[in-house]
Amino acid sequence: MSVITRDSLPGVYNDKVIRQFAIMTVVWGVVGMLVGVIIASQLAFPELNLGLSWTSFGRLRPLHTNAVIFAFGGCGLFATSYYVVQRTCQTRLFAGPLATFTFWGWQLVILLAVISLPLGYTQGKEYAELIWPIDVLITLVWVAYAIVFFGTVGTRKVRHIYVANWFFGAFIIAVALLHIVNSAAMPTSWTHSYSAYAGAQDAMVQWWYGHNAVGFFLTAAFLGMMYYFIPKQAERPVYSYRLSIVHFWALIFTYMWAGPHHLHYTALPDWTQSVGMIFSLILLAPSWGGMINGIMTLSGAWHKLRDDPILRFLIVSLSFYGMSTFEGPMMAIKTVNALSHYTDWTVGHVHSGALGWVGLVTMGSLYYLIPRLYGQKKMYSVPAIELHFWVATIGIVLYIAALWISGVTQGLMWRALNDDGTLTYTFVQSVKASIPFYIIRLVGGLLYLTGMIVMLWNTVMTARQGLKAGAVPVVQIPAIAAHA
Ligand code: HEM
Ligand code: HEM
Repeated sequence: MSVITRDSLPGVYNDKVIRQFAIMTVVWGVVGMLVGVIIASQLAFPELNLGLSWTSFGRLRPLHTNAVIFAFGGCGLFATSYYVVQRTCQTRLFAGPLATFTFWGWQLVILLAVISLPLGYTQGKEYAELIWPIDVLITLVWVAYAIVFFGTVGTRKVRHIYVANWFFGAFIIAVALLHIVNSAAMPTSWTHSYSAYAGAQDAMVQWWYGHNAVGFFLTAAFLGMMYYFIPKQAERPVYSYRLSIVHFWALIFTYMWAGPHHLHYTALPDWTQSVGMIFSLILLAPSWGGMINGIMTLSGAWHKLRDDPILRFLIVSLSFYGMSTFEGPMMAIKTVNALSHYTDWTVGHVHSGALGWVGLVTMGSLYYLIPRLYGQKKMYSVPAIELHFWVATIGIVLYIAALWISGVTQGLMWRALNDDGTLTYTFVQSVKASIPFYIIRLVGGLLYLTGMIVMLWNTVMTARQGLKAGAVPVVQIPAIAAHA
């Protein structure tokens, strides 16, 4: 019997599917960020569109967003949620074959996205571009995921449901709801469909989806990661368990109402825009409550930050989470949005959340997980983790600082008026003014990608070491109920 298949036995954790998802997180991370670097170069040097439709910015941009959010982020969430739910419920994954199906099904979704998006097949809804047959496959995988996750929680051997599982659970339910409602469409062929909604309603549903994709996919789920891996790596309990519960309910209640801040000054009724703005401002409180809970988990162990690069990934991710969840509510204020909307400020905000929060918390959690999954005490190279941390952090700072400047510059240039009421600048002048900042963003992106490539090398070496030594562990489920 091969080493890997032994964890298909009862009485041990099902870690094979976690290993598969963990490796693919790193692989898709490199692919998605490489496409990010390519489109960043196209904005700085438009000749790099190569004059081909398949390699044009418009086709590659959704490939980038789908690859980083759903392939990199998604695989990271499958891996960590399957690990956390088994350890905290002290039971094997429910319906093992379905868990295997989620792995292969999700990889197929990604592969189909990689093929269909450059070919130009799209529903034209941001973050929901994939055509309807792929949407059906996503639904099947997601239902399987829900059965595996909630089945595991339902068959747990401990009474308590640890808070990380609440966040993962909310993410799974919310994403199912968002995906099904927003993807409702009338197919006209295998590759084309019409949305079930029209006009302003379509926009409203789309941004209810879009914003909650941020709230539940890019936030709640990664908070699940944070609530397990920070206490583990810091070897301290969560700072305040009570705060974590308040954080959970406040966050999931508030996020659902904030979507209209993406549609300020549009045909959407004015009052819905105001509701979106107010709920976005309220959202600052639970977001910061969660951030403080995570950071304060380190109290009494701050010194660990000095020589533990994994903990640094995790804690710095929370600083970026705090920063982007301060910036977001500010941008949701209508008068601020009048300046920021359509500019690079939005893209900068996105990447302070995406690179700083989502990226770093995933990387930190995987650096914790990968050696354990391959029976190693630590990653193959700890200095390489250190190097990754610094190039990634410098990369993020360059990326977001450059786009703050270009964003505000664009906003100010577009609204500048001469005394006679005519525009002071042409649009192309604002594009020209942005180019130097696009080059700085490209350098930042290249650094971030370099870090990810270092991580891929480190992961492959750690896995090889474990496989060569026959050390891939088969972890017994403890008989006595205690937190793993
Ligand atoms: C090497 C790293 C990365 C680079 C160089 C990069 C670059 C880019 C570029 C050039 C755009 C298009 C901006 C525009 O239309 O003006 C973009 C959009 C986007 N990227 Fe990235 N990206 C990177 C990593 C990531 C990661 C890790 C995530 C998510 C986890 C992410 C999420 C997004 C999203 C959501 C958008 C759409 C933004 C919007 O519509 O405002 N990116 N990225
Ligand atoms: C309290 C939390 C947050 C609030 C209130 C908020 C608010 C906003 C606002 C007002 C915009 C600009 C909308 C526009 O002008 O079109 C925006 C865009 C965006 N934010 Fe946030 N944000 C928050 C946190 C985050 C985090 C943590 C992330 C990522 C992990 C994120 C990802 C995005 C994305 C992807 C967009 C671009 C959407 C698009 O136009 O394609 N946000 N957010």
